[in-house]
Amino acid sequence: MNESTMIGRRGFTQMLGLAAGSAWLAGCTTWRGANGPGAYSVAVLGDTHFDAEPESVYHSHYDESNKWAKVQHEEFRRNGEMWRSRCRELLSASARLARENDTRFVLQLGDIIQGDCDDVPTHKKMLDDCIRMLRAPYPDGIPFLTVVGNHDFRGKGAWDAYFQFAEPFMSSEIERLKAERLKVASVQPPAVQPSAAAKYPAFSFRVGMDLWVFCNFETDRLDAISSLIDADPDARHVFLVTHGPFTTFGDGGSYRWRLGGWRNCEAARPRLYETLSRRRAIVLSGHTHSTNFYRHENRFGGFSEFTVNSVWAKPELATAEPMHEGAKDYGTLGLASVPAEKRDDYRREMDFFKPGVKEYFFNRGAGHYRLDVSDASVTMAFHPGAALEPACTFRLA
Ligand SMILES: [Fe+2]
Repeated sequence: MNESTMIGRRGFTQMLGLAAGSAWLAGCTTWRGANGPGAYSVAVLGDTHFDAEPESVYHSHYDESNKWAKVQHEEFRRNGEMWRSRCRELLSASARLARENDTRFVLQLGDIIQGDCDDVPTHKKMLDDCIRMLRAPYPDGIPFLTVVGNHDFRGKGAWDAYFQFAEPFMSSEIERLKAERLKVASVQPPAVQPSAAAKYPAFSFRVGMDLWVFCNFETDRLDAISSLIDADPDARHVFLVTHGPFTTFGDGGSYRWRLGGWRNCEAARPRLYETLSRRRAIVLSGHTHSTNFYRHENRFGGFSEFTVNSVWAKPELATAEPMHEGAKDYGTLGLASVPAEKRDDYRREMDFFKPGVKEYFFNRGAGHYRLDVSDASVTMAFHPGAALEPACTFRLA
């Protein structure tokens, strides 16, 4: 990890000397949010997989003939256990920081619920209960944004149930952001696309000077995402919010299950890669149940991606210790678990990104995160578990 883009708490004193005069002088130990004109902070949560014990609360209609039943029952058990106390502590810590530090909105990166209800009223109730529970500890009225994840519409009738929820919910939350923002004289009018919160592929809106694009990571319409970014050439920062990562995640089992991973996306992927790079965009993702950072540099410019994780499934996942660190490790994670007949395909996927990956951090840890946005920089602080102080802060722009 390049010292210019990550500071661990242990290295902070040393970094003061190394990075004198840089944006890193703020460091972890004195971090208190973004400053300056157009600066704002965002409380960030990864996958939450909201669920409850006993299973019958949300899964009494679950279809046991599902071929994934064994795996999914294990997920119900995991979710119920982690939401008993650990994830509530994580949420409390995130909300406390949001209350104590000026925070613009809460961003949740999809898989907000477990799904698997197989019953539309139950699926809707799971979404309602989840939103009420997640937003309760945060400051009253703070906008809460979420992006669609694969679990959010998993189960019978769940696709329609999710979008019947998401369309009005996201529209009203974005309207709340706009209303707040319009009170600030220096801010450009936000540009909400007419398709906001409609069935994706994607929609975009302004938060002050910044463009935020939310997409359905399973869309094959990557050009629609590129076009939304191209349509706003003056934005200060460009954020792409996607449940599944854009940068190929090296997991051997699901290396194609991400934004742009489907074969019918291969023709459109180079344009999105170039668009993100030319705009020095910041991609924010979840899905992998790990905390990852990638910095890309290439002939078009470069972009950053940060993957967040709030699935605090075991106490020991409250850690920022990296499993992989440094660009040389990128692409080595899952090869051994890929069946022999798929290894060429796996390598081809990794090779698309690998030459441009200049920094790489991979950690299995879970926690909550704070994004600080300003003219000078965009940083992401990682708070493992329910930590109130960040273990490390990554510079995304
Ligand atoms: Fe997930």
